[in-house]
Amino acid sequence: GSPAPQVEDTGKPSPKSELAYPPKSLSSGRSGPLVTFQQPSPLTTFSYDSKRELRFDDSALRYYVDPPHGADLRYGYERWVKRPEEKGRLDGLLKAWLRVRDGFPEGFMNGGVIAWRGVMTRILTAPYEEREGWHLNVMCVNGTLYLEEHVSDAKLLEKEDLTPHHRLQSYYGYSFESFCTAGTPHAKPGWGGDVDTNVQWCSVVRTKLGNTRLVIGGEVDCVRGKLTKTNDTLVELKTSLTIRNQLDESRFEKKLLKFYFQSFLLGVPEIVVGFRSPAGKLGTIQSFQTMQIPRMVRGKPGSWDPSICLGWGERFLAFVKEAVQGDVRSAAAKEEEAPVVWRVDFKPRVGVSIIQLGPEAVEEVQAGSDRYGFLPRWYWEEQLH
Ligand code: A3P
Ligand code: MG
Ligand code: MG
Repeated sequence: GSPAPQVEDTGKPSPKSELAYPPKSLSSGRSGPLVTFQQPSPLTTFSYDSKRELRFDDSALRYYVDPPHGADLRYGYERWVKRPEEKGRLDGLLKAWLRVRDGFPEGFMNGGVIAWRGVMTRILTAPYEEREGWHLNVMCVNGTLYLEEHVSDAKLLEKEDLTPHHRLQSYYGYSFESFCTAGTPHAKPGWGGDVDTNVQWCSVVRTKLGNTRLVIGGEVDCVRGKLTKTNDTLVELKTSLTIRNQLDESRFEKKLLKFYFQSFLLGVPEIVVGFRSPAGKLGTIQSFQTMQIPRMVRGKPGSWDPSICLGWGERFLAFVKEAVQGDVRSAAAKEEEAPVVWRVDFKPRVGVSIIQLGPEAVEEVQAGSDRYGFLPRWYWEEQLH
């Protein structure tokens, strides 16, 4: 064991409980039993429309088409309807979970975790993350852990305030999505319609990492052919700079770690990468089978090993559970009390720490909206009976 986490009143870290960065040499990182990851089972899907309203249908689902050769990814940039940056709220995922949870036994998610796929990707790829730190808010309700990315107001402004260069680079990815998709199957190649990043199609799955059940949701870019009950036609779209030399190649292989886990977590079997020039001209297209990616990078310089990530992920979740396990009161017992919210901080090359937030920090998390901690009040009330 780690020491009991302290309560922090100022919102500034005065640690805390800590988990050190995992070793990555093959001998040490791979010792111990391999952690299993269960094949994700689809639970439901939903769509956000252009007004950002959530609907439990597939109206935002897109169909894959081969993009036109040499397409200009700057096309339509002036008409981009950009979704404002937002905090990592779980609302949509919780709505989805409420619709399906009656199909499971009582207490099914006891000891389980509910989070967006992006948060799980960050957690699992942390052993190889050397630059970008991250922060999570965590709550435990009736034995289930809820994880959301903590985005401070300052961070939100910073994300909104992209340089024109970064904004354009980000647009290339969305424009590639438009060139690769259509609203109907078997459409002709070409522009798939102006980009509106409010519109998204999401898949919610359940799976298991080691012994921990997970309910995760995330955006899926399109399907090849048609949507099936097993999610085996889902496709993730990505852009990347054309590979010209060894250095580019090893950079790309590093990026494949994120591509891999992002898709793996939702059970998306195919990733289509569009290679582009710095100026946004589309070059070759390459399709990757998600499950083959680890084998492709194995043994290469700067390669990565997914079993290290899964092992770390399991230890990370055990660590967070241990820290919050003092908080075992039922939702009903908590009703009259202030919400208990925890903050996990990840520092590249160092590891993670967790503290319990004091009242001021909890208030910042709630952000004045109708919430209990970061959970929407309507979801919280569902947990009381
Ligand atoms: P590419 O990654 O293909 O360039 P996703 O690939 O997850 O479906 O995201 C679609 C696009 O959103 C990305 O396309 C990228 O352009 C943009 N995007 C995603 N995450 C981003 C981030 N953290 N910062 C900037 N742009 C991002
Ligand atoms: Mg996407
Ligand atoms: Mg994509």
